This record gives sequence, C-alpha cells and structure tokens, in this order.
Amino acid sequence: MSDIPASKRATQIEYAIRDVVVPATVLEAEGHEIIKLNIGDPIAYPGLPTPDHMIRAFQESLSRGETGYSPSYGLPVLRSAIAVDEQSKGWGCSPDDVYVCHGVTEALQIIFAATLEEGCKVLAPGPHYPPYMAYPQLFGAETIEYRLDADDGWRVDFADIERKMDEEVRLLVLINPNNPTGNVASSDEIDKLISIAEKWPNCMIIADEIYDGLDFTGNHVSVASRSKSVPVFTLNGVSKVYYAPGWRIGYMALHDPVNRLTEVRDGIERLLRSRLCASTPAQMGYLAGLEQPRDWMQGYSQKVVAQRDLCLQRISEIDGLDVQAPGGAFYMFVRLTDPMWENDDKKFVLDLLHQEHVLLVHGSGFSEEMGRGHFRLVYLANTDVLNEAFDRINRFLQHSR
Ligand SMILES: Cc1ncc(COP(=O)(O)O)c(C=O)c1O
Repeated sequence: MSDIPASKRATQIEYAIRDVVVPATVLEAEGHEIIKLNIGDPIAYPGLPTPDHMIRAFQESLSRGETGYSPSYGLPVLRSAIAVDEQSKGWGCSPDDVYVCHGVTEALQIIFAATLEEGCKVLAPGPHYPPYMAYPQLFGAETIEYRLDADDGWRVDFADIERKMDEEVRLLVLINPNNPTGNVASSDEIDKLISIAEKWPNCMIIADEIYDGLDFTGNHVSVASRSKSVPVFTLNGVSKVYYAPGWRIGYMALHDPVNRLTEVRDGIERLLRSRLCASTPAQMGYLAGLEQPRDWMQGYSQKVVAQRDLCLQRISEIDGLDVQAPGGAFYMFVRLTDPMWENDDKKFVLDLLHQEHVLLVHGSGFSEEMGRGHFRLVYLANTDVLNEAFDRINRFLQHSR
C-alpha cells in the first residue's frame, strides 16, 4: 500500500540546526568521533551545568508531589518573579502580563496563532533563528527578512526595514542578542526600530531576549523599556541564561502601553488554556534561578567570553575565514571568503563533516539569501576542543584550494 500523505505544511518545515545532525549520526554509528559545534545547547558542552540550586528546587518540587497540572498562564509565584525581573529591566511589567510557556518556542507558536491571518507578514532579521521562518507559514502568513549588515557587525539595516514595512506586517522581530550573529542592538537602534513600527498601527514588536544575560557589551536594553506606544512581546526563559534548555520553560511578557492588545490577549489566553500548562516542577526550578543570587553567572560568562576570544584569534589567523566579532549570545557567524564555499556553504559543512569530523551549521540554514557563504559556530566547547576544531577547519580549507 502507498504511504499516507502528510500535510504540505509539515513537509515544508526545515530546521537546519538539527538537519545536519543526521549525517553526523551516521558517521558516529560507524565509529567516528565528531567535534560538534552545531547546537546552541550549553548542556551539550562541559563546564556549564544547570546550577545546583535550581536542580534542587526542581527535585524538591517533585518530592513534594507537585506533578499535577499548573495554571495555564503559569504558577502565580513564577509569574510574579518574572514580572519583578522584567521590572528591573525598566518597564512596568505586572504578573498578569506574564504567560509561562513550554519554552520561547511555544510562546512563538501561540503569538503567531493569535495574531496572524492568511496574507499577514512577519518581518524578521536575516539571518535568524529558523522557527521565525517556519512557524508563520503554518498560519498562512509569510516571513520577510530584513537585512542585517554583514560588513558592519551584523547591525540592523533600518532603511531595509522601512522599505519592507506595509499594512500587512503584524510582527516586527528583533532577536537581541542575535542568534546566529551575536550582534547586540544599542538603545538608539531600538528607538529607531520602535519609531518605524509606530507608523504602522497594526504592527507589534517581538523582542526575543532569550540571550539578554549573555550580553558582553554591557549595553543590553529591553525593547519594552523603550516603547511608549508600540505593543511589545518580550520573550525569555530558562534555556540559555539559566542553562536549562531541556526543562522547556520560557515566557512571553506583554507590554501594552496604550491598551491595544485586549483582543490579542484574549486570543493568547484562549490558546494557552487549550494547551493546559507548562511543566509544573520545572517552573519551580526556574523560580529558584530568578529568586536566588545570580553571582554564579559571572564565572559562566567569563568562560564563554574566553572561548569567544580564542575563536576570534584563531579565525583571524586562518586564510579563508572572516568574522564580525559578536557582542553576545554564544554564536559566531563566520564568513567563507573562498568563492567556492561562498556559493555553497552547505557543501562546505557536509564536506568538512565527512573529511574532518567537525560539525557546524551552514549559514543558508539561517537565511537562504542573507546567510549564504557563512557557517554558524557555537563557541561553548572547551578551548582544547575549539583549538582542535580550528586546526581541522584550517587543514580542510587549505587542502580544498
Ligand atoms: C533566538 C532564540 N529564541 C528562542 C530559542 C529557543 O528558546 P526555548 O528553548 O525557550 O524554546 C532559541 C534557541 O536556540 C533561540 O536561539
């Protein structure tokens, strides 16, 4: 009998970061050891474990038998702690503005489901984290990319945004710090973005700030703290800054300075109720992270910054690579300067994987148009592993000339 067809919308979904894992798994099954610098999961690398006090809080919640459903919008204690944390970033967040989700990824699905219709547009940075392209399509909407400037630290190209704005753009996305480029937007740039959105009455901003505690410039600014009129969905959670991505806890916080989100908020709440709740004990683990001292973060960040600096040094010495130094997150978006690879970054990644057993992600997986000719590297591995990876990348580049 022939196969039962899947929906077209499902078969069109791509997730480059995990797609390249398939050939790597085959090589591993053959007995090869792969240096994996592909996945933005800090737990996949040594030395950056989820802090003990958070794990204890999760375990204690389990021991108390807190294994039932929790309220659909999140545990009230956690919503309050998140609101306090957002207030510390400069805006009047109340616990009722906070909705706890199964990660930022679920928050995105809910926001898109609550705001997008057939024909709507999402304006997202190019390159970007892949779900910003994949999910809007599920609702008949389209993602248009605005340009990040590859020659100027991957800064936002505001003229490009202005050219692409129209009545159909419902959501203007800023990922700050950015995945995959590591660019951090300044407060002036954020003000500029808000002033563009202000001209379009049905436009809201998504501020994906999941890497905000991994800002090494010292200049991170919350978008919600700057907006006096444009509604902002702030996204954050436990995955990156609190080093617990497998817990699947994140949130959206709604900033609605001139009360224009009554209907959208109602839609979001209906959707949240229909999917029941986020994991109850994991919310208690996140609560401990928010409420207890965060001095441990400094040591973690120092390690990450030292690894970033090593990568920048190594890249500067390799003929065939170029990079704009990232200001935050734990990614580098590295340019392949040889025209052979510039035009086929996926082949570069696959050939490197097969010949040298180093796994990266091709830049075109983050944007067909604006990521081409690059690869993304996660710099969370220890320095000896990073050095070995760069030795192999260098050997590969020089042999392939
Ligand atoms: C920009 C960005 N947003 C969201 C996520 C996923 O967040 P979560 O684990 O909370 O779903 C990632 C993961 O890499 C990311 O890079």
